[in-house]
Amino acid sequence: MGTYELSAFFLCVSLCFCLCPIVLCQLSESQTNTMNRLRDLLNGSVTLNSAPDSNPCTWKGVTCDSSNSSVIKISLSGLSLSSPNFLSLLCQIDTLQHVDVSNNHLSSIPNQFFTDCGKNERLKLLNFSLNSLVGPLPTFQGFHGLESLDMSFNYLSWNIGSQLDELVSLKSLNLCTNHFNGSLPTSLGNSMALEELVLSRNHFEGGIPEKMLTYKNLNVIDLSENNLIGSVPSDIGNLSKLEFFILSSNDFNGEIPKTLGNISTLKRVAAHQNNFIGVIPPGITPFLRSLDLSYNNLSGTIPADLLSSSNLESVDLSYNALSGPLPTNISSSLVRLRLGRNSLNGTIPSATLATLESLTYMELENNRLTGSIPRQLGSCRNLALLDLAQNELSGELPAELGNLANLQVLKLQMNHFSGLIPIQITQLQSLSTLNLSWNYLEGPIPSEISRLEKLTLLNLQGNKLTGSIPTSISSLTYLMEVQLGGNQLSNDIPKMPRTLQIALNLSSNLFKGPIPSSFDNLHSLEVLDLSNNQFSGEIPEFLTKLETLTLLVLSNNQLSGVIPNFHPWVRVVKDGNEDIKNNTPNAYQHSAKKGKSVVVAFLVALAAAVFVIGVAALLVVSISRHYHRINDENSQSGEDLHPPQVVQGNLFTPNGIHRSNIDFSKAIEAAGETSNVTLKTRFSTYYKAIMASGATYFVKKLNCGDKIFPLGSRDKFGKELEILAKLNNSNIMAPLGYVLSTQSAYILYEFVSNGSLYDVLHGSMRNSLDWASRYSIAVGVAQGLSFLHGYASGPLLLLDLSSKSIMLKSLKEPLVGDIELYKVIDLTKSTGSFSAVAGSVGYVTPEYAYTMRVTMAGNVYSFGVILLELLTGKPPVTEGTELVKWVLRYSAKQDHILDFNVSGASQAVRNQMLAVLRIALTCVSTSPDSRPKMKSVLRMLLNAR
Ligand SMILES: *[C@@H]1O[C@H](CO)[C@@H](O)[C@H](O)[C@H]1NC(C)=O
Ligand SMILES: *[C@@H]1O[C@H](CO)[C@@H](O)[C@H](O)[C@H]1NC(C)=O
Ligand SMILES: *[C@@H]1O[C@H](CO)[C@@H](O)[C@H](O)[C@H]1NC(C)=O
Ligand SMILES: *[C@@H]1O[C@H](CO)[C@@H](O)[C@H](O)[C@H]1NC(C)=O
Ligand SMILES: *[C@@H]1O[C@H](CO)[C@@H](O)[C@H](O)[C@H]1NC(C)=O
Repeated sequence: MGTYELSAFFLCVSLCFCLCPIVLCQLSESQTNTMNRLRDLLNGSVTLNSAPDSNPCTWKGVTCDSSNSSVIKISLSGLSLSSPNFLSLLCQIDTLQHVDVSNNHLSSIPNQFFTDCGKNERLKLLNFSLNSLVGPLPTFQGFHGLESLDMSFNYLSWNIGSQLDELVSLKSLNLCTNHFNGSLPTSLGNSMALEELVLSRNHFEGGIPEKMLTYKNLNVIDLSENNLIGSVPSDIGNLSKLEFFILSSNDFNGEIPKTLGNISTLKRVAAHQNNFIGVIPPGITPFLRSLDLSYNNLSGTIPADLLSSSNLESVDLSYNALSGPLPTNISSSLVRLRLGRNSLNGTIPSATLATLESLTYMELENNRLTGSIPRQLGSCRNLALLDLAQNELSGELPAELGNLANLQVLKLQMNHFSGLIPIQITQLQSLSTLNLSWNYLEGPIPSEISRLEKLTLLNLQGNKLTGSIPTSISSLTYLMEVQLGGNQLSNDIPKMPRTLQIALNLSSNLFKGPIPSSFDNLHSLEVLDLSNNQFSGEIPEFLTKLETLTLLVLSNNQLSGVIPNFHPWVRVVKDGNEDIKNNTPNAYQHSAKKGKSVVVAFLVALAAAVFVIGVAALLVVSISRHYHRINDENSQSGEDLHPPQVVQGNLFTPNGIHRSNIDFSKAIEAAGETSNVTLKTRFSTYYKAIMASGATYFVKKLNCGDKIFPLGSRDKFGKELEILAKLNNSNIMAPLGYVLSTQSAYILYEFVSNGSLYDVLHGSMRNSLDWASRYSIAVGVAQGLSFLHGYASGPLLLLDLSSKSIMLKSLKEPLVGDIELYKVIDLTKSTGSFSAVAGSVGYVTPEYAYTMRVTMAGNVYSFGVILLELLTGKPPVTEGTELVKWVLRYSAKQDHILDFNVSGASQAVRNQMLAVLRIALTCVSTSPDSRPKMKSVLRMLLNAR
């Protein structure tokens, strides 16, 4: 080597040294080549944010080792890949440790992948989650280094034998949400290294095999939502590293094993919705944070130590057959305590309450508790929900309730409380639900009640309250429901907040005189019950102008004169008023039987109202007072009428036929005719509009005033709609265009002659919806919703998802409608009823009372209610209760829940319906966190086929 070469060599070495990242430490040529081929095969989607010929270590989803000399991780998640041929290429990178191809459309894995990658002993993680893999689980040969295998959310089926047994390093296996059947697998890596085993949401059958419990390193076992039976082996206590043990939604029976208490690592046990029997053994909670044994058949008393552990945060034993007293030793760490629907007796332990500083949710309803509410309860400063309803509690309500500054829901109904309503209750600034009904409370309703600014439900019915309704009630602008029936209230009735929506019940009191004229502002009210009072005079004409009214109960008063003309969908109950003359026949005027208790009458009436809406849905109209006058021949209107002027209109559709057909003035004109109304949802009314060309369209008028749709926001309105118009999904009802008039906003759509799912399912055509149709509708709606939730620039939420907002293109093709409401109605800026609640009765999530926010999880809940409607054939409010509660009440008898006209078709149909029922029940989980995402719901539905 000459001097020249030598110095050149040193120069090179030093250069190389300085420029190490760029020159020396690059990927080997072969890895670079492989990566380039991968890039080409994937059409460049891996190099998204970098130059095509840049260093592969800089590509999106590619991770190299610390010296950038070899590729160790590749993530190709969410790239819509459907062709699997790139997979074998990955195996040529022998330094690869992690391969993540989750969230694509892969339907198979080539054999070549298993033979080639199986030889790579460095490969630690394989993620095939959220693809479309079908068929049996493939056999893994080699893969001796594989620690984590995720094949969850696919369509894999058949039983699992020894396909995984060669995975000697396997620590984590996730096969949840597939179609696997047969017995639970026991060959899960023959060196028994397994730590996490997730097999939930499959069709596994049989019991828990003893062999499964010989994997001594297990720390997660999730077997929820399968068809498992039998008891839990007591050997479970030998799993000394177990942290999470999830068995919920199976058919397990037998007793809760007491050996659970031996496991010092155990944090969470969930065994709800099974058939566990016997007593809860003592000593199972010393280490637990969360225990859920709800919806079983457990009996006997609650062990004295069950709630005492200092780690406990959440205990749910509701819906069992537990009896005896509440434990007195309750841990101060507890956040959630649910013991409702048992047969517990004795008193609420007072001494321990003073220490429960974390307790946020306390539900003891529907037991046999006696005694009074201890004053010490006032020390539970974090309480947001207190439900002691339907017990045998008595005495006066303690003033200390007023210390619960975070309380949002207070339910004390159906007890034996007496004395006055403590004025301190009016300090509860966050309270949204106050239910003290069916007690023996007396004295006046405190006028300070107006301090409860957030109140949406005020239910004081069935007490002995006297005096007048405080005039300050009119300032409660979140109020939706007022139940004051069955008291001894009298004097003048003050003006009610115009936000009232669900019901105003003043029945069975001592009210006299004419029906107050101030009721003319109740333009959102559905039920008005004035029965069993001494109201006199004529039934005022203005009641016929309350557009949303469906039930008016006037029975047993001293009203006289002629009944004014109500809309045909309003049911007027008027018996027991001797001087009323029946002038015009009204198809829906029935009389209620006397002597029924007021509550039964009301619940029946509410259910009937819902039914009537269903039957008369095609007639249901909610029009502005303006248009109402045009068509109501009998009204003697002196109001001056101008047809509304088109202020602004815009067509989005590029379709030339639509563009030539649609005439804005014609659209507005059609929306002025009540006879054109085809559907009414909470926020909008659909009209059928026939254009000059003969073509038919839907014109949807938004039922909203200036408050929620200020005129200043017109440009925003147009822009939001234009975005929605471009959505391309066959299950979405996208707008064709819009028109704004001086009065209202109208949106144009293609016409759908079948009407809404609600009309078809709960109307006369219900028998034409067989299971194939219902399933297809369920899948279609799920497809539409997961499309909206997955929208690229942020999820598109639905403000009021219900079976009324689903249109049927055919009996198998649904369209999700009303998709613009969340965008165009600004709930935060609005006042009045629309801000009080988003969504319709029966579809609103339990947490909405606390959060007041529209969320994806909330949409999933509403979708669950729609699934329940399809499964049961029942409307969202059924037998006087929400459908969800009705279904849960009968959850033990699943066959009684299903619509027999449909489920009776065959055993196969019945099984499929039961599978969909399980999906529906997860969607309506009380906790928003435990509801699946729409995309998973869709997969589960497709799996249920
Ligand atoms: C490896 O490459 C990455 C991405 O280009 C870079 O940020 C990092 O500094 C490099 N590391 C070394 C040790 O060269
Ligand atoms: C890449 O593009 C070609 C042609 O457009 C297409 O056939 C192929 O499926 C695409 N590959 C991937 C992985 O998307
Ligand atoms: C697999 O990918 C999914 C979706 O990207 C992710 O949620 C999951 O945590 C991954 N699994 C593992 C074991 O990393
Ligand atoms: C298991 O699943 C396969 C494929 O879905 C099916 O053909 C088979 O009948 C099932 N076996 C049992 C016992 O249900
Ligand atoms: C509670 O009920 C049990 C029977 O279930 C009864 O033996 C006991 O006396 C009751 N206790 C109280 C305080 O009522």
